[in-house]
Amino acid sequence: MSDTLPVIGFYSPSEDQTVYKTRLERDLPGFQFELLEHATKKERVEYALVWSPPNGLLQTFENLKAIFVLGAGVDALLRDPDLPEVPIVRLEDAGMAQQMAHYVIYGILRFQRRFGIYENLQASKHWEPILDIEPVEQFSVGVMGLGAIGSVVAEQVSRLGFPVLGWSTSPKEIDGILSFCGDDGLESFLAKARVVINLLPLTQTTEQLIDKDFLSRMSMDSFLINIGRGRHLKEEDLLEALKKKAIAGAMLDVFEREPLPRENQLWNHPNVIVTPHVAAITPPEGALDQIIGNIQLIEAGGLPSLVDRKKGY
Ligand code: GLV
Repeated sequence: MSDTLPVIGFYSPSEDQTVYKTRLERDLPGFQFELLEHATKKERVEYALVWSPPNGLLQTFENLKAIFVLGAGVDALLRDPDLPEVPIVRLEDAGMAQQMAHYVIYGILRFQRRFGIYENLQASKHWEPILDIEPVEQFSVGVMGLGAIGSVVAEQVSRLGFPVLGWSTSPKEIDGILSFCGDDGLESFLAKARVVINLLPLTQTTEQLIDKDFLSRMSMDSFLINIGRGRHLKEEDLLEALKKKAIAGAMLDVFEREPLPRENQLWNHPNVIVTPHVAAITPPEGALDQIIGNIQLIEAGGLPSLVDRKKGY
């Protein structure tokens, strides 16, 4: 029987395939689960669940109905020159927004309450209270990218009492968030934000957006948190800005090259925190809820919200 069933194929160098297999076999018994690299009957593969597939892999399945990306960003997939012309569905939040919010809240509080300074003071057993804590209501946090993840992050930061500014490529309205958009809005947004958080999708418009010019528009006592993609940021321009004290510091989760090469100066810069692309780990159950719901929708003749290939998200 399973020899005739349509196939849901899976490819991910990082996700545990058994969690996906077990749940898909339980909830979608009309399909068979197979690993895409080992799929024997390629013409039976109707859905592909992927993270970072090698270029060219997906074009070998001629009856694909949709590609599901096991993450929020589709930039790597869209770089495949042989990507077949089938609908692409990415994850929308799926439990990642909460993790992203916690990551940035740690960064914001660390900067605002000077915990980095206390870590250094403790290392030298030096007791020196800093009493001029900046009030939260004067410490504006800027969130770039107000999609499914950015809007949750903005709301959670706002709930802590920080004024939140938002910036997006097209205008967005979120209650309690002062929103800016486009090139015109960027300058005022950057001038006001003490912490600038990048959550934009990586597209042709946003690639290397955070360059020398961008960093020079941030205030000298501001911090950058990059949890978008490494290619949003020109790392050499950031190092230069830190050297000139044009900004105060950065917390980076994503890099131009990952793993971050050992010789990269960001590793041991005193004002930079480096984490290894962990701001949010795709929660399999949250991802599966969305993917299963969307496969059922497609099978019933409907269409989930799709990635716009031109926009890149
Ligand atoms: C991770 O980087 C993602 O895009 O979900």
